[in-house]
Amino acid sequence: MPAFNDKLELRSGVTLKNRLFMSPMTTQQSFYNGTVTQDEIKYYADRAKGLGAVITGAANVQDGGKGWPGELSIAHDEMLPELSQLAKAIQGQGAKAIVQIFHGGRMTHRATLSGEQPVSASAVAALRPDAETPRAMTVDEIHATIAAFGVATRRAIQAGFDGVELHGANTYLIQQFFSPHSNRRTDEYGGSREKRYRFIKELLDSVFAAVDQYADRPFIVGYRFSPLEFEEPGIRFDDTLWLLDQLKTSRLDYLHMSLNRYDRSEKGAADTRSMLARAHERLDGSMPLIGVGGVRTRADVEGVLQSADAVAIGQQLLYDPTWAVKLADGLDDAMLSADFEDALKFVPLNKPLHDFASSMVLGRKARQAAYRKEHPAK
Ligand SMILES: Cc1cc2nc3c(=O)[nH]c(=O)nc-3n(C[C@H](O)[C@H](O)[C@H](O)COP(=O)(O)O)c2cc1C
Repeated sequence: MPAFNDKLELRSGVTLKNRLFMSPMTTQQSFYNGTVTQDEIKYYADRAKGLGAVITGAANVQDGGKGWPGELSIAHDEMLPELSQLAKAIQGQGAKAIVQIFHGGRMTHRATLSGEQPVSASAVAALRPDAETPRAMTVDEIHATIAAFGVATRRAIQAGFDGVELHGANTYLIQQFFSPHSNRRTDEYGGSREKRYRFIKELLDSVFAAVDQYADRPFIVGYRFSPLEFEEPGIRFDDTLWLLDQLKTSRLDYLHMSLNRYDRSEKGAADTRSMLARAHERLDGSMPLIGVGGVRTRADVEGVLQSADAVAIGQQLLYDPTWAVKLADGLDDAMLSADFEDALKFVPLNKPLHDFASSMVLGRKARQAAYRKEHPAK
């Protein structure tokens, strides 16, 4: 089992000084058009110390991929000066800077898109309260979106980031193409699992073509995925293991499994080990796997590293910005241990961040309860 402060050498040639990542967390602090704000730069700089790498919150690669107000954007060259300040602020604290690039697909709203209808693989609404029915993308639109991920990678390189993370998780567009719930296409981008993977394969080609053309230094490309969907039909863990078999032969530097609890297992499966442990076994050392979800203490870090090669920390860093420094210095007693709901009352977050964190932490529970009421489990 690796130690959290062991170096991590990535395939691209970048070496991280340790195995701690800040998990991507959107903070809704960007300007209306997605330009990074000084508040946001300070927020990341305050949290970067002691980490091997910071992964920013999701940044949309096209205007039509914007998921929510206040989101980061990497869709236009005019964003480059502030993106560059953000990368430098993170690197100034000794961490590598990785920008997460994404498209919201059907998980957005007309209100966020100035009246435009959201798009996805197919015209199927998500099974969520307040979901809108998207419009199915034409093949030309698919090609344009794949190209936009390549252009976003070029911008990340020019802005001075150390890498990009492709957001293939949390039900956004990349996942929507792989999912049999959101992808009902009958052309070359839909149907069998192989065909639903085509979007991801072409995306990797587009991103690595940008790396080859523009990067004059080793540049990280990571990929985040969610192991399961609750929809029927939907992605099952077996599909995810198949996806890993495809991705492990690619040039990716790392894979990142998105989970709320790192030790979660697949409900009802004969194999009761955590999904993280099973994915790690499947990858068999072919590329590093990052685990995440509920990490608050040194014991959690060690728990993740039993089944993964690196650890991502989300909310603990949101509330406890110097947590990674405390971990390195053995100041475990000084780590924030209050429930996040309680922490909201006394941790000094600025107003937009406080409001957003509370809507994420408190609103998630309320939304889940409302959804379960409308869709009782069969
Ligand atoms: C406020 C907030 C914003 C988030 N935004 C993103 C995001 O932009 N991209 C992403 O992949 N995950 C996002 N997540 C999920 C986190 O990266 C992480 O997977 C999740 O919070 C579980 O880890 P934790 O228990 O350490 O917080 C967000 C979570 C929170 C709480």
